[in-house]
Amino acid sequence: MHQGHDIPHAVEVLRAGSLVAFPTETVYGLGADAENATAVYRIFAAKGRPLGHPLIVHFAEVASLGAWAKDVPGLAWRLAERFWPGPLTLILRRQVRIPDIVTGGLETVGLRVPSHPTARALLRAFGGGVAAPSANRFGRVSPTTAADVQEELGPAVQYILTGDPCEVGLESTIVNLSAAEPAILRPGGVTQEALQEVLERPVPVRTDGRVRSPGQLASHYAPRARVVLVPAPTLAAQAAALQAQGLRVAVLTPPEQNTVPPDVTALALPDTPEELARVLYATLREIDRQGFDAVLVSLPPEAGLGLAIADRLRRAAGPRHA
Ligand code: TXA
Ligand code: MG
Repeated sequence: MHQGHDIPHAVEVLRAGSLVAFPTETVYGLGADAENATAVYRIFAAKGRPLGHPLIVHFAEVASLGAWAKDVPGLAWRLAERFWPGPLTLILRRQVRIPDIVTGGLETVGLRVPSHPTARALLRAFGGGVAAPSANRFGRVSPTTAADVQEELGPAVQYILTGDPCEVGLESTIVNLSAAEPAILRPGGVTQEALQEVLERPVPVRTDGRVRSPGQLASHYAPRARVVLVPAPTLAAQAAALQAQGLRVAVLTPPEQNTVPPDVTALALPDTPEELARVLYATLREIDRQGFDAVLVSLPPEAGLGLAIADRLRRAAGPRHA
């Protein structure tokens, strides 16, 4: 049995030092026992992820935060109490129980209590921490279904837990609380506006790559098709121009803005940011499945969830590193 909803089996697999993929409210994670360095090493091997890129440790109860992080500042507790369980990752000073391979040797660790019922059930039954990156091959689009995980990792994952859909559809927001001032290292499911309201101070976005973070590489979250960002009013003209060069082109556009010529494939995007976030990765995968060479899309307004959507689209459109 390779896939299903058997929590006790998933726990056995984790205890044996093997890998379990599991749904979270953001994307599917590829999990291993966070305190078993050999098991965590298997994550890097399965993903083709270079060692040194730190992983997030997931656990079940907000109250256990102190078991995984030390010197937890008041601001971290405030965020944890307001947004956990949920799509927020806090970077804090790590407790010694977390092996070096999880943090890439950093003295800090990313911690998250997910809200997805299946993730929660798994973490509760396991009892410990589960180190888990997104369950995709390095650099590729994160999976939002069990079938996506199967396609990305195949036999490299011992068991795929199935469950309700990933409601958010984009990765968690990462907030660094290990420096003097809080900062967002990766925009995600919890908005900058919501963070600032709870912390009663500005929380700037710092995706400049000073902290080692693959989510901060220029090209990441990328499908095979070339992603081209264009201003909305020029979508139709640019699509026609690329098509004239012999490329198979798709255009992503909210239905009411669809002005593309009839011979160009338009894939309708939902117009609320919440809906768009939920379907974005599935749409990029569908574009690859249909064999398009290029996909044209314009950035949404960068407020609320739009900030995370624009961040992922920019990275999908970034220069390819291999
Ligand atoms: O929504 C999510 O966060 C999903 C689900 C599975 O929880 N996980 C996820 O993991 O997106 P991953 O490994 O694909 O991205 C985690 C990001 C990476 O960019 C990593 O470098 C960063 O978190 N990160 C982890 N620990 C860090 C640390 N100590 N300092 C700075 N960045 C860190
Ligand atoms: Mg990832």
